[in-house]
Formats: sequence, C-alpha cells, structure tokens
Amino acid sequence: MPHVTLPRIATATAWRDAARGFLGAGIPPDQITWGDSRTDPGLFDTPATAPAAGTVTVPRSFVAMADKVVWHNDPTRFARLYAFLWRLRDAPHLMNDRGDPDLARLRRMEKNVRRCQHKMKAFVRFRDIGQPGDTRRSFAAWFEPTHHTIEPTAQFFARRFADMDWRILTPDVSVFFENGHLRFAPDHPRPTLPQDASEQLWVTYFRNIFNPARLKVQAMQSEMPKKYWKNMPEAAAIPDLIANAPARAREMAAKAPTLPPLRAAAAQAQQAALTSAWQGPADALQEALQDCTRCPLHSHATQAVPGEGPQDAAVMIVGEQPGDMEDLQGRPFVGPAGQLFDQIANQAGLDRGRVYITNAVKHFKFTPRGRTRLHQRPDAGEVTQCRWWLAAEIKMVRPDLILAMGATAALALTGSGANLLQRRGTIEAGRDGRPVLLTLHPAYLLRMKDAHKRQEATAWFQADLARAAQVAGVAPLPRAV
Ligand code: URA
Repeated sequence: MPHVTLPRIATATAWRDAARGFLGAGIPPDQITWGDSRTDPGLFDTPATAPAAGTVTVPRSFVAMADKVVWHNDPTRFARLYAFLWRLRDAPHLMNDRGDPDLARLRRMEKNVRRCQHKMKAFVRFRDIGQPGDTRRSFAAWFEPTHHTIEPTAQFFARRFADMDWRILTPDVSVFFENGHLRFAPDHPRPTLPQDASEQLWVTYFRNIFNPARLKVQAMQSEMPKKYWKNMPEAAAIPDLIANAPARAREMAAKAPTLPPLRAAAAQAQQAALTSAWQGPADALQEALQDCTRCPLHSHATQAVPGEGPQDAAVMIVGEQPGDMEDLQGRPFVGPAGQLFDQIANQAGLDRGRVYITNAVKHFKFTPRGRTRLHQRPDAGEVTQCRWWLAAEIKMVRPDLILAMGATAALALTGSGANLLQRRGTIEAGRDGRPVLLTLHPAYLLRMKDAHKRQEATAWFQADLARAAQVAGVAPLPRAV
C-alpha cells in the first residue's frame, strides 16, 4: 500500500499539501497509509508521493481543526483526518454534525492539543544561559510536552520574548529563537541547565500566591499535572505547602480581624446576607417575604409571591419567577404556564395539592410595553439574592426531592447554568446535597412553534412529573425517560 511519510517539522503544511493532492486525484482513504519519521511503515507499504495539489474547497472550520490535530501524538491522526476530509467532500454539513463519531474523535484530539499548548505556555521555565559580553540575553528551557506542540506554540514565545534569544528543548523537536528568527531541530539531548537566581524567584512567587485556605489538591493537580513538576522550580515547594496548608489556614483565620475593620465588616455582611436563612417560625415566612427589599425587583412588582403547599411535602417544585397573573393574584403558577403545568401534572398523576410549589425568584420582573407587562428573565444577581428565601423554604419543607423547572431554577438549586436540555431527566445534587430532578419549564413548551418538537418536549416533561409523582406518593423512583 502506498505510504506517506510526513516530516516532523512543518508537518501541518506537509499534511495539507499531501491531502489536497490525494483528494484532488480521487485517492480514497483506504488506498494509502500515513505516518511520520517516528512511525515505521507497514511491511508491505511502499513510499508514496502525493500528486501535485490542485484546488480543493474545504470548510474553514475543518482547516482550523486539522491544523491542531496534526500535532496530536496519536499515530492514526493523519489517516483519520484524511478519512474525514474524504467524507466532507460530498457532505460539508458534516462539520456541524455533533453526533458524528469521527468528528467527535477529531474534536477531542483538537482539544487535547489546545490543552497541551496551554500547559506549555504556563509551565515552560527558562534559565539564564547568557555569557558575559553577549549582546542579547539568552535563556533555555527543557520541556516534555504530551503532544507535538512545540511548533504551533513557538510563535507565542517569539512574540512574548522578542528581545532575547531563547530555546525550548524537548525530547522530540526543539525550537531556537536567535536574533529574531525561529528555527526548529529534531532530537536534542537533554541539556544540563544551570540553576539561576530566577529559580528561587519562582519558589518565592509561588509561596506568596499560594492560598492555603483555598487548597484543593485534586483541582491543583489537574491544572498543574505532576508530570510537569520536575521542570518547574516552584514545584519543589508544593509538598511542603500542602502539608502545612491546614495550619496556615487556621493562622490566617485567627488573624482575620486585623483586616481593616470596614472592609472586613463589609465582606462578612455580604457573606451573611447571601448564606443566612430564615430563622423565624415557618408560618411567618410567607408574610416576612412581603417586606423583602434584597434586590430592586420589589419596587415594581405588586407583591412577592410565596410558595404554596403542605409544609411537609415530599416534593418541592421550583419555577423561575411569578408571571403577570401570579403577581396580581399572589399565588404561583396560576397563569398560562401554571394551567399547562396543571394539565400535564394531572396526566402524569401528580397531585398539585400534595407538593410544595414555589419559584426561584419571588417578585415579577417585567418591562412595561403599553398596557402589558413583558416578562423579563431574572439575572444571576437577582437569583442569588432570592436564594435566601428559597433556602428558607427548603429548610422548612425538607423535601425528599426537588423538581427544578427551567434553567433559572436549575441555576438557583444546583449552582450550574449548563445547558438544561442536556441535563433534563437527570438528578443532580442541590447546594445542600438534596436530590434535584431537572426538567423543562412549562412556559418553554408554550413558546415552542414546531408541533412535533413540542409534542416530544411535552412527553419528557410529563415523564419527569411522573417521576416526581412517584416520590410525592412515596413509591420507588422509575428510571429516567
Ligand atoms: N412561571 C414561573 O416560573 N412561575 C410562576 O409562578 C408562573 C410562571
């Protein structure tokens, strides 16, 4: 089989030219094999020369992706790219097909390369190798990237350190920047680099930015993987900093009152304002809500709309905020979205009288337009302020399950604003550890124009309500639909 051997330097251009040539000549992917000088051709492979490249039109997004994927360390990368390019010829829309497994794989590879480039930018540590009398300062670093990211990342360093000479040596390809020119060379042996003053500077810097009260060892290791530590001077300080973190955090806490009193008081007040929950008797909660001025929404709404339902309900249902009719009547879910909710809840066997139903935000947010009041989505600050009341309601009802209807409720309850359509039908842990079943908002169903899609979404919503009904009726949870 004809085998294409790509160079280790300028690989992206070489792959692009070769792929263009083979594609233009109509050579299908199963008639060639690909590799570079690190990979041996197969026993029966013969060297292939790409036909002269003609004009081939490919989506720009493919070119951008291929320019990253060629630097991945997977030996199948060139063949995968070519096979996908072959398919793209007749189906350019494939670049947008999120369900395509070949594209998904290439996207993952692209992401790995980007991540590796990011690590390189963050973790390369230069040492001074200049000699007395040199006209330009001179630095060298040893780095061991996971992928072949030296070449695509070199420009970043060239821009950043344009006024000095430097080299980044790796076990694979190394880069040299001398008198303003970049040069790449393969296979440089690991040099012995001098320890210099900047080494101690890194350690001191790291010790100073390290916050023991914020220590999360796993997160830290995923951001700064251990494999990079050996070439980073400051990493020597890490074990010691981790071991002493609890004691240092206690020390810091003890010293906290020495903060300027005004700043400390403001920070404490802000924290308390967000985290404290209702302390009074449960019955008085709904009345107390009417005096809420925690965010500006109270000034235009008719009234705050509290939750309603049994205070010992097994299920709590949380919507977004009261709408126009809810604002006027002072009760949640009585307008069009509430009527649709009632109808589907009925079909799902969910008895509204047995659940506690409320909203993430208790005042109606709207823009006046003539005689109507147009619903406006509450922003993250308003949701955060109103969580004080939601937390108080949860503390009062202590439900076994909370049903979050819509993205605002999901954000308030779980802290995550990730795509709801991808999360619906799943149970996540709420802020206090309570299970939160995520579902759509009935108003979303009302807004859907496409009848088929609305029918499908309604079926999901009904299935989610049926699951909640099982809990409200104290039956085992059925599986997600
Ligand atoms: N939408 C909501 O989220 N809550 C209501 O109470 C009414 C409409």
